[in-house]
Amino acid sequence: MIGSDRISDSDFARFCDFVYSRCGITLNDNKRDLVHSRLAKRLRSLGLENYGDYFELLYAGRGNEQEIVNLLDAISTNVTYFFREDKHFNFLAQKVIPALVAEPQVLGKKIRIWSAGCSSGEEPYSLAITFAENMPIEQWDFRILATDLSTNVLEHARNGVYDRERMRNVSASLLKKYFTAGRDGRRYRVDAKLTALIKFTRLNLMLDFPFKGRFDCIFCRNVMIYFDRSTQADLVRKFSFFLKPGGCLMIGHSESLTNIKHDLLYIQPSLYRKKS
Ligand SMILES: C[S@@+](CC[C@H](N)C(=O)[O-])C[C@H]1O[C@@H](n2cnc3c(N)ncnc32)[C@H](O)[C@@H]1O
Repeated sequence: MIGSDRISDSDFARFCDFVYSRCGITLNDNKRDLVHSRLAKRLRSLGLENYGDYFELLYAGRGNEQEIVNLLDAISTNVTYFFREDKHFNFLAQKVIPALVAEPQVLGKKIRIWSAGCSSGEEPYSLAITFAENMPIEQWDFRILATDLSTNVLEHARNGVYDRERMRNVSASLLKKYFTAGRDGRRYRVDAKLTALIKFTRLNLMLDFPFKGRFDCIFCRNVMIYFDRSTQADLVRKFSFFLKPGGCLMIGHSESLTNIKHDLLYIQPSLYRKKS
């Protein structure tokens, strides 16, 4: 029976291997108590008696995808909010968008942005607002792809309803322009004109990317922090391949590509560009 005893060495090791192989997330010993308490909750809600039964459930068939999602949600953080790390949005407004707009106009020219590890959607909606505010997107073939491993956060993102608390960086004028307040005044719904710009879909960053085209900008912020160096290096190599020449990669402020071999040009901390 799962009680207050710590998870055993072998169960913890088995669990860490599973999470690493499926999601690239590295758990070390200082996460052990957290893992134990979160997993104990999962086991209780599934009515399971021990970790052995839980592993059996995880490995059932080709893998119990919904339980893998629940597991990931239980051990990772989905914390995010609108205009988090605003330096990146300022860079878009001041450098990236003017450069895109200055390019020779081709009718229906594609602009493709990817929010990789978008969590509950605040990041891609902030991107949509930034582009809509700084260029006539209706004159372009403009789309944002927003992906995450967790179907739970993607459902929230598609729903597009947020607590005021998560919107503290949204100015009053943007709030009025792009959101509708709920009756209680504490929650806001994103307007359909923003939702129409974004495609939310599930994608595990550990797998090969299924894209035909390349991106002008990739945001992958506060995601790689969970991965080890070799997983980060593989991911950055894949991102680089899927950037257009001159395209940008934005990573989280507390992340860095130092000690990772890559072919991107450093612009400033947490900002990289593919050679033109
Ligand atoms: C802390 S949130 C970052 C949200 C947003 N990018 C930001 O900076 O505010 C990290 C997200 O990465 C997702 N994630 C973790 N491992 C992943 C993987 N292997 N593939 C896709 N998404 C993953 C998690 O589900 C979570 O929603």
